[in-house]
Amino acid sequence: MLVLGIETSCDETACAVVRDGREILSNRIASQVQSHASYGGVVPELASRLHIENCIPIIEEALHIAGADLSDIDLVAVTAGPGLIGSLLVGTELAKALSYIMKKSLVPVHHIAGHLYTPFLTGGGETVSFEYPYLGLVVSGGHSSLIYVKSPLCYEVIGRTLDDAAGEAFDKVAKLLGLGYPGGPVIDRLAQKGDPGFVHFPRPGVKGDDCHLSFSGLKTAVVRFVEQYRREGGSLREEDIMHIAASFQAALIDTLLIMTERALLLTGAKRLAIVGGVACNSLLRLEAQKRFHPVPIVIPPPILCTDNAAMIAGLAPALYHANRIAPLTLNADANWELT
Ligand code: KG4
Ligand code: ZN
Repeated sequence: MLVLGIETSCDETACAVVRDGREILSNRIASQVQSHASYGGVVPELASRLHIENCIPIIEEALHIAGADLSDIDLVAVTAGPGLIGSLLVGTELAKALSYIMKKSLVPVHHIAGHLYTPFLTGGGETVSFEYPYLGLVVSGGHSSLIYVKSPLCYEVIGRTLDDAAGEAFDKVAKLLGLGYPGGPVIDRLAQKGDPGFVHFPRPGVKGDDCHLSFSGLKTAVVRFVEQYRREGGSLREEDIMHIAASFQAALIDTLLIMTERALLLTGAKRLAIVGGVACNSLLRLEAQKRFHPVPIVIPPPILCTDNAAMIAGLAPALYHANRIAPLTLNADANWELT
């Protein structure tokens, strides 16, 4: 089964062709990061307009690289939520039009379920040993959640985002330190040269006994530290920024790992997947492997951690076989809950 996947939930226009829910034949992404960078974050209306410009060229590229034609496609899959409503609508309307003219079924895919599916994707050739059920740590710009994944159709939310998501905290702290947008990659790079013990920032929620994730207090702690530092010593030097970045990153990653450990115990899960844009983080990748050994962990390659359409096309056959297909009246749902 050859699936064409479309993802436009935020600021990446993405299209992919995936065979049988496993083998990625193409995975194209038109990133809008440069266009939003000068605003310090994603501007929703600009994102929708750029999706409109980019979506047809990116479909053509994805088909060309896959060596496929629209007539070879068996199923159309699209992210129908959650995300920015204007962005989602561009993708869902395009997918509906394609499904209509191609006379192929349309499968709406939940964006987070897509991220959680990435451990099963391959570039072809390799076999996947990962299995259900597993615990998923989803860490992106909009979400930080711990989800027990029982099957492609059944999810139990163990811990959810209470305020700022992990990626949002990276982005806001980077903005505060004058490092630009998106903040995650630049903090990751600078932190490698900084001292993580320079400031001991709080690990929010670790004293409680639930698995919910809250990072706005950590962000505020960094704001307060920087304000006081400026009051006492003037402007931040380059090495101060590196030390603050390293200390913030250490606190955030430590919190994620403590909460994940708690969720592993609570669910009895035997496998772990770490997905979403923040899963690109080098400290998280290293520490997770160390801390949870010998629990089998999959942290997908960075290109599958950030938003992509291969995860949408990959999950679609399982949904199709469970009859989760949509009529051509499908509407996007910006707040779609994962169940
Ligand atoms: O999954 P994603 O591409 O989009 C959303 O669905 O939100 O995640 C984007 C987020 C941004 O907040 C970005 O700063 C963060 O992922 N990110 C990172 C790294 N690379 C991207 N955070 C920490 N370390 C990184 N290396
Ligand atoms: Zn995402």
